[in-house]
Amino acid sequence: MTQKLSIAVLAGDGIGPEVMSEAVKVLHAVGSSLTLEIREALVGGAAIDATGQALPKETLQICESSDAILFGSVGGPKWEGLPANRQPERAALLPLRKHFELFANLRPAICFPELTAASPLRPDLVEGGFDILCIRELTGGLYFGQPKGSREENGERVAIDTMVYHASEVERIGRLAFEIARTRKGQVTSVDKMNVLENGLLWRSVMKELAADYMEVELSHLLVDNAAMQFIRNPRSFDLVVTENTFGDILSDELAMLTGSIGMLPSASLGTRRSGDFRFGLYEPSGGSAPDIAGKGVANPIAQILSAAMMLQYSFGLDELAQRIDHAVRRTINQRFRTRDIFSEGHKLVGTAEMGAKILENLD
Ligand code: IPM
Ligand code: MG
Repeated sequence: MTQKLSIAVLAGDGIGPEVMSEAVKVLHAVGSSLTLEIREALVGGAAIDATGQALPKETLQICESSDAILFGSVGGPKWEGLPANRQPERAALLPLRKHFELFANLRPAICFPELTAASPLRPDLVEGGFDILCIRELTGGLYFGQPKGSREENGERVAIDTMVYHASEVERIGRLAFEIARTRKGQVTSVDKMNVLENGLLWRSVMKELAADYMEVELSHLLVDNAAMQFIRNPRSFDLVVTENTFGDILSDELAMLTGSIGMLPSASLGTRRSGDFRFGLYEPSGGSAPDIAGKGVANPIAQILSAAMMLQYSFGLDELAQRIDHAVRRTINQRFRTRDIFSEGHKLVGTAEMGAKILENLD
């Protein structure tokens, strides 16, 4: 029996459409034994231009009736003049996360041994590469806490964002982190700010309580400022990092930069929604829409292709197919093909489509 996978494909803006087209080709190639229903929809600036809204109703409906969302990227200078709450990021990405309650954001920061030269860190710190999974809470904290807004007080402008976490929100992301840790090195680094924030105290106490259910996993805690420092000092000592929304936003960018190749990094956002054996999720590259290189055919499609692989793994349980994609990417890197962002002397410079084609050829 062939499985039918219904996938909403939201390419978005900037380099989104070019890298997405390579990812879709790879999906078709690897999924020849599956029935793929690819359903394209508008999102972000492209949707604003066509419909006036960053997340049109039809797009949300397509997502609603799909098993997973493969997302490109949104935003760009063209829409930066719009009021903040109508801009692609705030009006499309955040509502999608909230609507589907995608509370867990998995951001692997993998520095391939062959690509350590791309890292801005000293070679002795990254020799042999590293593989850190950053798990960011995605639907709580400062991003969504109420009250939120700005007003005038005694003739002065005041802005308010509120950080709120319920123990249950910490618990569900914490459990996921412990469960994933079991499949990796059995190590969780939990990051908080318990020396200042009430939220930090709650975060740390819930994580400690959870640890009792996962005796085989080693839990350690870092304050967020110290974490930012330790990642640079010794990235290879980390395996899995879990933290709240805002800290995760910042630290995941730091970790991505330490790999030196943000164009290689995928991400998965998971919630509780399920249909049959499938777990709903949104999969997107960690890098942005990169408007400066959009339309030039030079963007690295690997982050988008690996996002499709994460989708096969986390939403559809097709780990073997995901691994085939991972292997094809690694083989292509070993064959010294490089897009501009990861290029160094002695390698073969290729564009978006050529990189996609090489990866296709390398699928076993
Ligand atoms: C990210 C981005 C978003 C975030 C922006 C675009 C709203 O920085 O996914 O990390 O802050 O979550
Ligand atoms: Mg960010």
